[in-house]
Amino acid sequence: MKPVVYITRKLFPEALDMISEVAKIKLWTGELTIPRETLLEQVKGIDGLLCLLSEKVDATIMAAAPQLKVISNCAVGYDNIDIAEATKRGIPVGNTPGVLSEATADFVFALLMAAAMRVVEADKYTRSGFWQIPWDPMLLLGQDVHHSTLGIVGLGRIGTEVARRAKGFQMHVLYHDRTRREDAEKELGVEYVATLSELLSRSDFVSLHVPLTEDTRRMIGPTEFSMMKPTSILVNTSRGQVVDQEALYKALKSGQIAYAAIDVSEVEPIPMDDPLLTLENIIITPHMASASIATRTKMTIMAAANLVAGLQGKMLPNCVNPEVFKRVPE
Ligand code: DGY
Repeated sequence: MKPVVYITRKLFPEALDMISEVAKIKLWTGELTIPRETLLEQVKGIDGLLCLLSEKVDATIMAAAPQLKVISNCAVGYDNIDIAEATKRGIPVGNTPGVLSEATADFVFALLMAAAMRVVEADKYTRSGFWQIPWDPMLLLGQDVHHSTLGIVGLGRIGTEVARRAKGFQMHVLYHDRTRREDAEKELGVEYVATLSELLSRSDFVSLHVPLTEDTRRMIGPTEFSMMKPTSILVNTSRGQVVDQEALYKALKSGQIAYAAIDVSEVEPIPMDDPLLTLENIIITPHMASASIATRTKMTIMAAANLVAGLQGKMLPNCVNPEVFKRVPE
């Protein structure tokens, strides 16, 4: 009998085909995110789970699925999964690193440039019929991207791709990371700064590329905003909880920083009564930085490959807790 897997959202056919060859698929087809109670019910008796970052996969979910052999997250980030609990239970967890770095870095630049040159505001302005003077030298003035200073917080795969793109704009790139990257310093000419405060105070643009952990939760708050230039622009495509959103609102409203462009928010989707939505100097997109057809196809294929390997008891092509494979049975 084929193992049973639960998939929490429809995937590209290529990925579904890979899975259906080896497993019986149960699929959530609801329009919105699967409700937690439904997920708890549906995981009973499954052998594999393929989920999204919107599903919290914790001890309760794992306990409801005692024969679970693999959890495959269709994302590079896995803060939605209790990895320690999965490891304790011997369940390998897969993610999708690498394939989305370049698309995400492209999107960072789309946000960064749209914020610097006020593209979204300008589009609204035109559509609203405010464009009356053919060419106004003082209209919708923004900031130069070229030759400015970009501060990258977290020089991992995505941060490195952002740096690569920045060099094309002749930006001076600073980075702050727990690990110094001398290879990237040589290859891309990026400058390491030892403290976040130095990065924040010197940058015209700040782009966040850290995973969400207890160390990075709300790492950008009132103190950090007070260190940034009043002309600076914050770009966040990592996780919403990395930024204290109330502090972001205050910083944008008071002019402590000039602009923000965020693809992620503390609560997703961002509630329609969130005060950030009342501001003109912010661009908010719906967690879509990796959303090119090619990249999402690769992500789902990678997630399917992780799921299939786990069902077969093999090392996942991309495993975040490979130690589960080394364990000697008691
Ligand atoms: C991820 O993969 O973690 C992103 O947030 C979605 O592409």
